[in-house]
Amino acid sequence: MTRQEKERLVQAAREARSRCYAPYSHFAVGAAVQGESGNIYTGCNIECASFSATCCAERVAVYHAVMAGEKCLSAVAVAGGAQGDPVRGRTAPCGICRQVLSEFAASDMTVLMAVSEDAYEEVSLGSLLPMSFGPKDLQDTNDM
Ligand code: THU
Repeated sequence: MTRQEKERLVQAAREARSRCYAPYSHFAVGAAVQGESGNIYTGCNIECASFSATCCAERVAVYHAVMAGEKCLSAVAVAGGAQGDPVRGRTAPCGICRQVLSEFAASDMTVLMAVSEDAYEEVSLGSLLPMSFGPKDLQDTNDM
């Protein structure tokens, strides 16, 4: 992935923040994933008065991608911060989102976390979710 592609993905995540529905936490998150085709799919966090039904921005982006036929994602970008404020400080994907990302990506997936409106940090999904349980662990049961 080129530096330009990375910056484009992070910028898509920053822009997706404005779509958030976060009346309870007032924490706005945007996410963007890149599929095999090179296309970008975005998501924002969508909260619910029954709090546990809240969906994070990363999962909304992944579900958009899968709905469009993309099941092999190469990169994800996340941008978070207080609603109405610029991005300030890193937002890392939560545990549930790490698991969902790993369903549709390899461990070398690029994870980009915006730290401001013009900077980001980069890690791999494998470093965020080591020794993961995934589709491979259910292969034997499916062969039965
Ligand atoms: N949130 C995300 O959308 N992604 C993350 O990686 C962390 C948390 C959302 C969920 C909730 O709407 C708000 O941020 C506060 O937890």
